[in-house]
Order: sequence, then C-alpha cells, then structure tokens
Amino acid sequence: MKKIFKLLNAIKLIIQRPALLNLILKDEQFVKAQFERSYPAFQLKEIDLFELWNVQKITITPYAFLSGSSLATDFALLKILCMQYKVEKYFEIGTWRGESAANVAQHVQEVYTLNLPDETLQQMGQSRAYIASHRHFSKDIPNIKHLFGDSATFDFQPFLSQFDLIFIDGDHSTKAVERDTKTALSLRRSEAAIMVWHDAKSDAEYPRFEVLQGIMDGLPKHMHQNVYLVKHTLCAVYVPDEIIYKMIHINEVPSREFKITIEQQ
Ligand SMILES: C[S@@+](CC[C@H](N)C(=O)[O-])C[C@H]1O[C@@H](n2cnc3c(N)ncnc32)[C@H](O)[C@@H]1O
Repeated sequence: MKKIFKLLNAIKLIIQRPALLNLILKDEQFVKAQFERSYPAFQLKEIDLFELWNVQKITITPYAFLSGSSLATDFALLKILCMQYKVEKYFEIGTWRGESAANVAQHVQEVYTLNLPDETLQQMGQSRAYIASHRHFSKDIPNIKHLFGDSATFDFQPFLSQFDLIFIDGDHSTKAVERDTKTALSLRRSEAAIMVWHDAKSDAEYPRFEVLQGIMDGLPKHMHQNVYLVKHTLCAVYVPDEIIYKMIHINEVPSREFKITIEQQ
C-alpha cells in the first residue's frame, strides 16, 4: 500500500513540476542501464598512466583548487600524453579558467581553446564572477589561442585535420559529448591522434555513463575498443595503439601512494 501512495505522490509531483522527470532520466542507475543496453559487449577497461609511462614526478601549475577544478591527475594525464606522443597542436572544447590550457601549453607548440562567449554566458544567467574567471590562467600565454563560440554551431572548417590531441571538456550531456566527439574526429591530424574526455568518471574510480554513452555514440564502432578510462583521473582516452590495460576495479585497496607538496605561487 505504501508503494502505491509513494507512486501517486510521485506522479502528482511530476505533474506539478515536470522538470523532476529529469532527475529520474539522469539517475546514474537509469543511465547505466541504458548504456548497457546500447553497448552490451563494451568492456570498461582502465589504463594506469603512472605505470604505463613510469612517471615518478610531475608538476601541475597553475592549479586553482577551486570549485569545479579538475583533479591534478587530469592535468598530469594531459601533460604526460603531450610529452609521450610528442603532441605539437592541441585543441580543447571548454576553456573556463584556462587551467588545462595553461598546463598543456608548457609542452606543445600551439593550444587552441574554444568556449562559449562571455555574452552567451551572461544571457544564460551566469554570475559575473563566474564569467570573469574565464581565461584567468590562459589569457597572457603566447602559444594559447582563444576561440569563442558554441561547439554546436562553431565553424570548425579552418581547424580540420590539424591536431594531435583533442580534449573534450565543454557540455557534458550525452548529446553534446556525441556531437563534440564527432567534431574531434574531424580535427585529428591523422588516425594517430589522441582524444581525451573529461568527466567520463564521476570521481577517481566510478564511471559516468552519461558521458560514456556520448563517447560511444560519437565514435565509429571500430574505435570503441581503444577507449580506456584512466585510473586516478576523471578522464577517458582514445589512443590508437595497443596499450596495457586492466578491467576497472572499484573500491580497490590502494596500490600506490602519492606525495603532494602544496606551494603557493
Ligand atoms: C568544465 S569547464 C572547462 C574546464 C577547463 N577545460 C579546465 O580544465 O581548466 C567547461 C567550460 O565549457 C564551456 N562550455 C559549455 N558548453 C559549451 C559549448 N557548447 N561550446 C563551447 N564551450 C562550452 C563552459 O562555458 C565552461 O567554461
């Protein structure tokens, strides 16, 4: 009986506030089930950047340590990929404070970073402080070029077939990730290019199926097997070569420890 009351109450609330339906549709269990229906054979593989490339020490600078900041290990991943794969040209969707752009700029010749224009953010009702924080770390770095537009409508024509690494970190909804992934495919200099998606995990261990669904929907099937989650980060990567991986293992006993020195600049 209690269940019927709950159901009737829920229906009443949804009729009053239809936006509540989004909570169900975005619920991780629901999104995960949908992903598993779409890609029943897909295996969640994970690579370990510290093991793969035997990284002992890497410095992340700048790092804001503020709300919404990526993990330091996300920036480490980008830096390590740029060094290991000798990336010359890097493109990213989603600039915000310019932390990822500023970190990567130390290792590549050119960084292109695209973001919604400030006016659009204003029209969306974003706060002045949030808008002002855009490009904070990247604005004065000579090898960073800032591009403005919505990745849904931006004219990518002048940038096609040029980039060695594309980082997708804009709108994280499934449809937007699918669209940005298709764009990323067209920006690649060659089939050897790498793609990285931020927020493909909801924390350092758990996958985020809303984003994974967009990645798989955006990539041709033959590329699916080269998509890996990255241990200790929030990222997924596409790398074209054979790479050592394990199946993901959640709530594992730590296999290593890190030392973090916090230094104010
Ligand atoms: C998570 S932040 C990027 C963080 C940044 N990559 C970093 O790690 O320092 C996402 C940014 O993407 C921008 N964005 C969201 N949707 C977008 C779209 N459709 N086109 C371009 N930029 C978008 C937002 O304005 C926001 O600044």
